[in-house]
Amino acid sequence: MSWTPGSWRNFPIKQQPTYQDQELLKKVEAELSSYPPLIFAGEARDLKEKLAKAGRGEAFLLQGGDCAESFSDFNAKNIKNLFRLMLQMNMVLMYGTGKPVVKVGRIAGQFAKPRSSDFEEIDGVKLPSYRGDIINSIEFTEAARVPNPKNMLKAYNQSAATLNLVRAFARGGLADLTKVHQWNLEFIRDNPLGKRYDALSTKIDHAMKFMAACGLNSDTMPQLHQTTLYTSHEALLLNYEEALTRQDSETGEWYDCSAHMLWIGDRTRDLNEAHIEYFRGIKNPIGCKVGPTMGEDELIELIDALNPDNEEGRLNLIVRMGASKIREYFPKLLKRVRDEGKNVVWSCDPMHGNVEKSSTGFKTRDFDNILSEVEQFVAIHKEMGTVAAGIHLEMTGNDVTECTGSTSCAITDEGLASRYHTQCDPRLNASQALELAFMLSHKDDDSE
Ligand code: PEP
Ligand code: CO
Repeated sequence: MSWTPGSWRNFPIKQQPTYQDQELLKKVEAELSSYPPLIFAGEARDLKEKLAKAGRGEAFLLQGGDCAESFSDFNAKNIKNLFRLMLQMNMVLMYGTGKPVVKVGRIAGQFAKPRSSDFEEIDGVKLPSYRGDIINSIEFTEAARVPNPKNMLKAYNQSAATLNLVRAFARGGLADLTKVHQWNLEFIRDNPLGKRYDALSTKIDHAMKFMAACGLNSDTMPQLHQTTLYTSHEALLLNYEEALTRQDSETGEWYDCSAHMLWIGDRTRDLNEAHIEYFRGIKNPIGCKVGPTMGEDELIELIDALNPDNEEGRLNLIVRMGASKIREYFPKLLKRVRDEGKNVVWSCDPMHGNVEKSSTGFKTRDFDNILSEVEQFVAIHKEMGTVAAGIHLEMTGNDVTECTGSTSCAITDEGLASRYHTQCDPRLNASQALELAFMLSHKDDDSE
């Protein structure tokens, strides 16, 4: 039962690359182990406290970002647009629910991808699947698909630079509440949704002026001037995570310092396997995806393995059943967890159970299904007297066409081709994500 950052190596493991050059792999792991941590344990503890609040219904968790970050799409504009979108959604949700919003990006480390098949076949040519830029490359050639350990170093460096900019935006004035109008993204500004957001911003402006007149401004209250965007990713590639696992000098506890929060994917959450072993030893707040194949007993065993002290804010269960399955599969799990008194933070991932192929051949998701899964998730919690604590989205601050539908941009099967840029799964674009936030808040433009 004794745990070390590398004890996962004694367990069966799924969804990993087979590195050909083991010497190079060892060298890269040693180099990564000598690099500075990306986050500080105290920050992970702060996030855990905030998630505990979300679990009690005193805050709301907004987690979102790319399905997969990529080396080629790495630039300031993408990071800034996602940051602004998170701020906009934050305002809409905060104004609507009256609760603080805990913002967690799928960012600064979200590179490794589980795949449904080990191989990809195009026109009779069969190659190993793309597993994310931290492992291999997306180009459909034999050379590109060979896993390269050095990609881990590039992923670390990109994560460090991304996090640096995120921290600068969060602390340097971009998040100032007197600037809410400016967060509206250019391509949304003139559509009905942009106008709706603008109207909300005007109300917030008035409130800020009123508060300033009372002597409350960003000089006296730093909260009005700055924010925190935490980082998270699926800790799939355990070689990378192990190398960034560090012992906190204050407490002697182990933290995965590659991100504030890490989660386990639906395909690698088997009890008695490597991912559960690794996660049980780190003290970060953690997540675990819960798909339709999860059993009731299995879920309880998993909770006990990952959160034996029943600590609040430690474990986020991210439900991803699909709009047509959530009614059938989720209530019995929720009831069991509630009746056993387990402290978990329930959030809804309405993306991964709603993948379909468009008539034009694209992997897509329909906005109506996404919305329907979220609405059912909230309704089921209401019925059970439990807390729908948050939402987990694949989204981008850019104007892409990857998911169909929504009132604000009504993307059709034919329209998907125009700006379909995702490296992996289809993401909500900025207006679709904002529309979802307005739906969730239910209270944006009543005239109080
Ligand atoms: C993901 O969140 O990108 C993902 C692969 O999800 P899941 O493990 O739920 O399929
Ligand atoms: Co995905």
